Amino acid sequence: MAKTLEDKIKNIDTLIDNGRVKNKDTEKLKVTENVFDEATLKALYTLSNKGIIEALGGSISTGKEANVFLADGKDHNLAVKIYRITSSTFNSMEDYIMGDPRFRDVRHTKKDLIFAWTKKEYRNLLRAGEVGIKVPKPITTERNILVMEFVGKDEKPYPLLKDVQLDEASAKKVYDILINYIKKLYEDAELIHGDLSEYNVLIETELVEPILIDMGQSVTLEHPRADQFLRRDIQNIARHFKKYGIKSDETELYLFVTKDKKEQNHDSH
Ligand SMILES: Nc1ncnc2c1ncn2[C@@H]1O[C@H](COP(=O)(O)OP(=O)(O)O)[C@@H](O)[C@H]1O
Ligand SMILES: [Mg+2]
Repeated sequence: MAKTLEDKIKNIDTLIDNGRVKNKDTEKLKVTENVFDEATLKALYTLSNKGIIEALGGSISTGKEANVFLADGKDHNLAVKIYRITSSTFNSMEDYIMGDPRFRDVRHTKKDLIFAWTKKEYRNLLRAGEVGIKVPKPITTERNILVMEFVGKDEKPYPLLKDVQLDEASAKKVYDILINYIKKLYEDAELIHGDLSEYNVLIETELVEPILIDMGQSVTLEHPRADQFLRRDIQNIARHFKKYGIKSDETELYLFVTKDKKEQNHDSH
């Protein structure tokens, strides 16, 4: 049965209220209230009115800059990532902007930065998916909210790479896929993840395959720190798989990832 608009809005209101009641403790209450500030409420109403979010479920994660919630879409479960307007990282961004006469309207500017960041994560996920890398399919953005496919089973997200214990063969398989994903991302999507580690890789448990997440900070190859970010991504993956006895030479990995692209570029000049 189709829900009326009023039902949908009531639903979101109720869920927000539930969140507040559940998180009565000081710290958590603050977080909950920060998430649902005015901009976020507006965005949630819009997503509800458009029929994209039918109901907002429980909290999956509370990170430094964003909260992730489970939600019901029309046909599928969704993951809803809400960037906090009042997050500390963006406050430090504000520090750089304050005092610069071009950015007099700081509140406005800060919000715009976060909205742009949200769109950037959407586009990065889309681009990664298009070149054949497993990522959650992005669905839409609305202000500071990114709606994407929920990756998990029975309403539980797949575990993070850091939390799984792989057998030797699976570890090698996941490692190989990840190195090839870094290369594909670099070569075909012309992107560098920028925060790749065991904290931003989910393991699809049935297939024992990695899924990359968290691409808000991903950069294109022209970014002044692209090379530094790429080396760090490679280092993090190499380090994590050492505990499985997988030895790797980070310089060699770097060459493996970059050499074909660099040759291509060289040939075309
Ligand atoms: N599409 C998704 N499906 C299921 N769980 C997700 C999804 N995206 C994120 N998560 C969960 O939320 C957590 C935080 O997401 P992430 O994008 O890494 O945000 P943060 O910037 O806070 O690190 C992840 O570790 C994962 O458990
Ligand atoms: Mg993360």
